[in-house]
Amino acid sequence: MLHDALYPRLIIALLFIPLAAVKQRDTSKTWGGRFSEATDAFVESFTESISFDKRLYHFDIVGSIAHAEMLCKVGILAADERDAIVQGLQQIEAEIDSSQFEWSTQLEDVHMNIEARLVELIGETGKKLHTARSRNDQVATDIRLWLRHEVSAIDELMSALLSALVDKAETCADTIMPGFTHLQIAQPVTFGHHLLAWFEMLIRDRDRLRDCCRRLDQSPLGTAALAGTGFPIDREFTAAKLGFSDVTRNSLDSVSDRDFAIEFVAVAALTMVHLSRWCEELVLWSSDAFRFVSLPDALCTGSSIMPQKKNPDVPELIRGKSGRVIGDLNALLILMKGQPLAYNRDNQEDKKPLFDAVDSLQGSLLGVRSLIEQLKPNIERMHAAAAEGFSTATDLADWLVAKGVPFRDAHETVGNVVAFAESKKQRLNELTLKELQEFEPKITAEVFDVLTVEGSVASRAHIGGTAPSAVRREIKHARDRI
Ligand code: ARG
Repeated sequence: MLHDALYPRLIIALLFIPLAAVKQRDTSKTWGGRFSEATDAFVESFTESISFDKRLYHFDIVGSIAHAEMLCKVGILAADERDAIVQGLQQIEAEIDSSQFEWSTQLEDVHMNIEARLVELIGETGKKLHTARSRNDQVATDIRLWLRHEVSAIDELMSALLSALVDKAETCADTIMPGFTHLQIAQPVTFGHHLLAWFEMLIRDRDRLRDCCRRLDQSPLGTAALAGTGFPIDREFTAAKLGFSDVTRNSLDSVSDRDFAIEFVAVAALTMVHLSRWCEELVLWSSDAFRFVSLPDALCTGSSIMPQKKNPDVPELIRGKSGRVIGDLNALLILMKGQPLAYNRDNQEDKKPLFDAVDSLQGSLLGVRSLIEQLKPNIERMHAAAAEGFSTATDLADWLVAKGVPFRDAHETVGNVVAFAESKKQRLNELTLKELQEFEPKITAEVFDVLTVEGSVASRAHIGGTAPSAVRREIKHARDRI
């Protein structure tokens, strides 16, 4: 019975043996043991990540050194074996640093390229490094280490930009410009106040960045492929060596989830949205229609056909890159959403969006800082625009309220005054006292104090207000917060 059932399978199996035998087994693969055929060339190029994950090499080596030291500490490696591994890895790092390292697509990724070179350099001992770990916890560790490093650079860039904003706000605390709603001139504000609005958005972004660092700060090393390892490893030792405050608490989660990267890219996307909004303003303000600011030649480019052009390409590109980073966030969220536990190769696709988000954000933070530092406000033009559009109409209404007129009635009266001034093509402060008293007999000469743009901004001196005095107070506070 049993014999009958096995017989046809045996024939089929025998038929395949010669076929498999003619195909060369690829001995270069570290995982090649169970394979009897060489990898298809398409699969090799489709599955490789070395072309982009080599960027992680420093952290891959740092992680491997910590792992080797731990293996020695728990008695899995002898001291001389550990030393040989550490020296070999240091030599590899020097080779990569000096562009002497030959990356091989056949070796798939950064982890296997480095491990193969280690074996080439130190022989059999190199093969012991991968004891009690997997590429799954290795890559999860590498990305965390890499991201932590980049995040601290981003934190510094953000802080430098915050300082640039405060410095500029200080020189522009008295500069009056129109504030807008619906892109219509609404009420006068100070340029210093406007710059501090950008400061507030960015300092919240930096706060979010710091918050996401807390969850990045756990070592997944030692969770191996998915289930941990039977070796007596010391995860806390490697975590401490690598500067993590803690270890992750579940092996399946550790190798699988990339929420730390998603969270970072979410912060990056939101920061880019803020930078993009500012850049939109800079594009508008530097245009001939506004002429509120002039951007330095060094940060603009020309047109190949129109000799007169000076284009604000840097802010435009930052605005454009914000779209890319939003796309990166989308890519990572969608990459994650269909994955069952634990590691799946989908995760290899996390790197390009993550790298792109980091690069775009760093470049944009630098760009915005230069723009802020070097832009020149056109003070006269801003002031003149601030006085347009009856921007002190609310001040007139508020003044009437202070004289006992109910707000709704005051609103109605001022609406009539505005219509009258418009018909005379005059500003509110250009009307005579007599003309104003026709609309409301309670109006006295003191009203002119609030009808000027200076009077309007000076009256808003509360916390968060636009008065130069309030801006100077906030600048002091802002410097303490950076
Ligand atoms: N290059 C892979 C990645 O980025 C490394 C982990 C591969 N693990 C595996 N079991 N195939 O995710």
